[in-house]
Amino acid sequence: KHCILIGAPLDSGKRRKGCLMGPDAYRTAGIARMIEELGHGVEDRGNVDPGAFAEDPDDRLHALDETVAWTRALTDAARRGAAEGFPIFMGGDHALSLGTVAGVAAHAADAGRPLFLLWLDAHPDYHTPETTDSGNLHGTPVAYVTGRTGFAGFPPLEAAVPTGNICMIGLRSVDPAEREAIEATDMAVADMRSIDETGIAAPLRTFLERVAEADGMLHVSLDVDFLDPTIAPAVVTTVPGGATLREAHHAMELLHESGLVTSLDLVELNPFLDERGRTASLMVDLTASLLGRRVFDRPTRRSYS
Ligand code: ARG
Ligand code: MN
Ligand code: MN
Ligand code: MN
Repeated sequence: KHCILIGAPLDSGKRRKGCLMGPDAYRTAGIARMIEELGHGVEDRGNVDPGAFAEDPDDRLHALDETVAWTRALTDAARRGAAEGFPIFMGGDHALSLGTVAGVAAHAADAGRPLFLLWLDAHPDYHTPETTDSGNLHGTPVAYVTGRTGFAGFPPLEAAVPTGNICMIGLRSVDPAEREAIEATDMAVADMRSIDETGIAAPLRTFLERVAEADGMLHVSLDVDFLDPTIAPAVVTTVPGGATLREAHHAMELLHESGLVTSLDLVELNPFLDERGRTASLMVDLTASLLGRRVFDRPTRRSYS
């Protein structure tokens, strides 16, 4: 694999600041060295520049113009990155997925392949600018990339992701408007209740089979708050009851074994809230599992018959 690290220090998707330090925290935690040690190629393209934008007039929507500027710049960077290798977008808050997913979807359309999206998050981020109560645009990327209306001012989508190509795992904080909108779609959703019931592997395997059958490309968007806050404290939107260390690594290992993942977002890390870098290091370790780090190279399960 040729991994392309792309920094996206976007901090405009919500009011509490700190995610702008994310890309440098991943670099400090050794993300490039880890990728090399796994035997992949790696190239750090530095940070994307959003260009000029108007100051936030403090309207109902927070920092709209800044987020639009980022969306434009990241769509371009993602489209190019996806054509040239395996892009890893180091955030930045989840508003960066407005651009990264739009960009990889445009690339998939260029390549004539369907794009699938795995959303690992406590939240579905399925608000439109019209339904959001908070005005925080990090709560809107899935609505944008699926082509929902209400995104006036944003770049028109080149290629939408069909809701049927999306799987969300880890949900435990869903606003009423999001819930209603999701229930009207064919999106696959595994909330924590269903994970308690079936384990995390079952919904993921089902989804990966569908991606494989369709010869799809697969973008994974990993929000720090997918993880339980006791193991990943460096995030503003902590929600108790998240994925455990072992569930998260297991999911990453299944993703690696599938060979299907073509791009990755690492989002919502707020290094200002971290404890001795443990959340940044955990996100790098999870990325390592997704890229093939394992304890043994041969299957370790033994048969007793
Ligand atoms: N649904 C809430 C909102 O719209 C929370 C969104 C959290 N999103 C995130 N990317 N952490 O404000
Ligand atoms: Mn504001
Ligand atoms: Mn999110
Ligand atoms: Mn979240």
